[in-house]
Amino acid sequence: SKVISLAVIPGDGIGPEVTAEAVKVLNKVTAGGPARFDLTEYELGAEHWLATGETLPDKTLDALKGHDAILFGAVGVAPGDTSMPSGLIERELLLKLRFSLDHYVNLRPSKLYTGVDSPLANPGDVDFIVVREGTEGPYAGNGGVLREGTPQEIATEVSLNTAYGVERVVRDAFRRASQRPRRKLTLVHKHNVLVNAGRLWKRTVEKVAAEFPEVTHDYLHVDAATIFMVSDPSRFDVIVTDNLFGDIITDLAAAITGGIGLAASGNINMDRTYPSMFEPVHGSAPDIAGQQKADPTAAILSAALLLEHLGFDDEAARIQQAVAADLANRGGKRRTTAEVGDAIAAAVS
Ligand code: NAD
Ligand code: IPM
Ligand code: MN
Repeated sequence: SKVISLAVIPGDGIGPEVTAEAVKVLNKVTAGGPARFDLTEYELGAEHWLATGETLPDKTLDALKGHDAILFGAVGVAPGDTSMPSGLIERELLLKLRFSLDHYVNLRPSKLYTGVDSPLANPGDVDFIVVREGTEGPYAGNGGVLREGTPQEIATEVSLNTAYGVERVVRDAFRRASQRPRRKLTLVHKHNVLVNAGRLWKRTVEKVAAEFPEVTHDYLHVDAATIFMVSDPSRFDVIVTDNLFGDIITDLAAAITGGIGLAASGNINMDRTYPSMFEPVHGSAPDIAGQQKADPTAAILSAALLLEHLGFDDEAARIQQAVAADLANRGGKRRTTAEVGDAIAAAVS
């Protein structure tokens, strides 16, 4: 059988708890099949930094580049925790991985599964994907601080948008839209205020749209997009948006489809020059860490996205079906993280 070399970065907080369940399900779905996973675990994250001072050494980054894919848990400390500078591990580990491995498609599907409660009274048929740009925008680290701590302090984060970077993610979003039944793409931006980047995004969508005449497209300012995500989420099919807007609207998208514990993501390098990385949308959840309270479903669905990316569509579908079956019968049952993982693994056909 084909051996898939998989790097696992469990990380901090609930990261190790949820990745353990994702690995459990990956092993179950591949048992006896054409693929087998060869796992290498990497100890990285906030706790690792506190113990060693390392975030992501070059040699570790090089080693990660040698794998077929990466399964990532979550990293970071509680927002009020002062044991490490805010943003250090996020920037120097997570974002460094996304940038160095050129994960330009940050794919975040949102689907309201049967049996899952939405906080919306009439959610309708919610099934859309957000294609979030993953390597540019305000995340690029452009900016700085002058006269820090003085009344004259100046702090900037400059959003980076390149024609190359915008075009490749927009084309990917159109391609995904062309393969979905509703064939609709919505650009979410704020070109009424962010006029420079906004023009580039809008013009790029118009240009690439010509290659996909079967796909209809429209546009929403990001503030209005949050209204429709609550009032009429079934209007969305494929949303393409920049790195920061995509971060914010995908937490909202998760909330309307049953919560952050169900939201999966892939950081995808579509050119396959480097391994892609799959992770739940949520963070390390310090408030519930170490208590077996975390829902591992987001991590498990991220593992399905990983399989799909590697071409194992059948295995990916079987995980999605097992998750759907489990969600359909959850009701108000209280289960541990491992119990949910066991149940989904058992439901894998
Ligand atoms: P968070 O996603 O960790 O937690 C937000 C809330 O959602 C918490 O109440 C948490 O208990 C709950 N939650 C999250 N995942 C859950 C799950 N699987 N099951 C049940 N409940 C769940 O966001 P935060 O509190 O803003 O961030 C905590 C830390 O995680 C920060 O250091 C942040 O930078 C980091 N973070 C990392 C990633 C990542 O590694 N990809 C993503 C987001 C945040
Ligand atoms: C996410 C997270 C990250 C992001 C942080 C932790 C850097 O919120 O994956 O959604 O903003 O992309
Ligand atoms: Mn986020």
